[in-house]
Amino acid sequence: MSKIKRRIRGIRKLINYWNYLYYVKNKPIVSDYEYDQAIKELILLENRRPDLIISESPTQKINVNVKNFKNSIHHISPMLSFNSIYKYNDLIDFDNKIRNIFKVNRVVYCCEPKIDGVAISILYKNGKLKYAVTRGNGYIGENVTNNIININSIPLSIENNITKIPSLLEIRGEVFLIRGNNKSNLSNERNNAAGVLRKSNLDVSDKNLLGFYCYSADVISKELLFDYHYNLLQHLKLYKIPISKYVSCFTDTKDIIEFYNDMYKKKSLLNFNTDGIVVKINSFAMQKKLGVTNKIHKWAIAYKFPSHEKITTIKNVIYQVGRTGVITPVAKLNMINIAGANITSASLHNFNEIEKLNIMINDTVIVSRIGDVIPKITKVVLYKRNSNAIKIKIPNKCPVCNSVTKHNLNKTKLVCTGKLNCSAQFTELVKHFVSKDAINIPGLGSKLISKLISNNIISNLIDIFYLQEVDLIKINGINHKLAKKIIYEIEESKKNINLSNFIYSLGINGVGIVTSILLSKFYKNINSLIVSDIKTLIRIKGIGSKTAKNIYDFFKDKNNLFIVKTLISKKVGLNIF
Ligand code: IVH
Repeated sequence: MSKIKRRIRGIRKLINYWNYLYYVKNKPIVSDYEYDQAIKELILLENRRPDLIISESPTQKINVNVKNFKNSIHHISPMLSFNSIYKYNDLIDFDNKIRNIFKVNRVVYCCEPKIDGVAISILYKNGKLKYAVTRGNGYIGENVTNNIININSIPLSIENNITKIPSLLEIRGEVFLIRGNNKSNLSNERNNAAGVLRKSNLDVSDKNLLGFYCYSADVISKELLFDYHYNLLQHLKLYKIPISKYVSCFTDTKDIIEFYNDMYKKKSLLNFNTDGIVVKINSFAMQKKLGVTNKIHKWAIAYKFPSHEKITTIKNVIYQVGRTGVITPVAKLNMINIAGANITSASLHNFNEIEKLNIMINDTVIVSRIGDVIPKITKVVLYKRNSNAIKIKIPNKCPVCNSVTKHNLNKTKLVCTGKLNCSAQFTELVKHFVSKDAINIPGLGSKLISKLISNNIISNLIDIFYLQEVDLIKINGINHKLAKKIIYEIEESKKNINLSNFIYSLGINGVGIVTSILLSKFYKNINSLIVSDIKTLIRIKGIGSKTAKNIYDFFKDKNNLFIVKTLISKKVGLNIF
């Protein structure tokens, strides 16, 4: 078998398995993004070898084994999907294609939010809810009536005095997890909605979790006739069937992109998760003419929002040593752009995380960045792993100073034992010491600090206050003017230092800004803190035994004591109040 043939078979098998987990088990193991990527790869391969395309390929049809449904129902007409686009140009192409087919200048499109939930079909017979079915494989779905009738917004009866009720009406829509009622509003929204819907019996707490919007309907008994999708949806409102208030019609693609941008901006404020908009041809006659394939309706398209997830590979793993000696593994990535930001690395946090995610060097991974939050590796794409995968080692020596490393008690942190002899730890301490909430010397930036340390110009905190212009101009990029400014800032910094800022500046493990304030209020001056015992420290409200011990140990250390005493001595002259 040729390589490409084997690959096509492999991906088909995988996608079929994912479809089974998603549509039948309601327990997807891959994100939409991962799924889309695999489909994309399969389409690409099939385009290279059209002779290998078969009607059973997941690019042509969703193959789901529905035997596992406890109680299944045949859909009256198949529940199909539609294609996705990501770019404005693709929308223009879609519009051009439709206008060409119908030889018209403009087409009316009905645009709606694409709701990220579970597709449901509900049948009303003589105005009464008869049953509700999931999409399943598009032809046969699972009967979920018992749970659907618990969703508050779904009417059990659509009887109404004003308008006629069709004797047979099938509505379709999306059941979703109401946002704000739960903490998880990430891409697994759909999974959760599916999970809740599948529970054998919804309890009271579940009932308020789910919402529903109807996005299409079929009046099977033809009492009501509509020519346009939009009008049909508006009519359904009279039956108290929930319709999204954002449904709007446009003819110009410029207006559609405006709607798209607007929905994207509103996204986080909505009570449902949305991953794009759906653009539908409004006229039923035109819809019918365009028709369907085995898998999709040709008259609608999903215009998806930019994904906050991307796939890339891990080139390498480096180790960063922090101020307190904690060693953090960081993955170096092949560059990806997520929502406008170029990303080349992602913290792996600690070695437990590496184990939990089962990450190896050269692995293909999914990186997620939501809003301005730092990028995070959320998953390894295991089926892409091959023989070049390398296990990530836990270093037994500090990568910077070569001191031995050790785990903390609960093994969550790996620590370098080199303390301030480790140039990485010392560099981080100096950065912390001169930062805004500490001594505040803005001119001493990270790069300059690193150079001053590697050139042996400063080797402890006291040295900062002995810096002279001649030392600074030795450093590349520092001229007389800048050197003068920095020396001035150092002198200024000495004049008025809050006791809490000074305590904070020392970088004692566990002593952040808040603890520093507590300590400064209690001790009033630095000398009392220096000689304090653990018992007294623990008595301060807000200070735990661990931090108390850290503080006590810090001032028991001869070297630390010497540094602090020198800083506040007349020789250096920090003015602490
Ligand atoms: S209309 C094309 N409208 O998206 C005719 N579908 O793969 C059928 N979806 O599972 C669907 N929001 O459940 C339509 N406003 C919307 C939608 C929507 C979400 C879901 C639908 C289907 C998937 C398409």
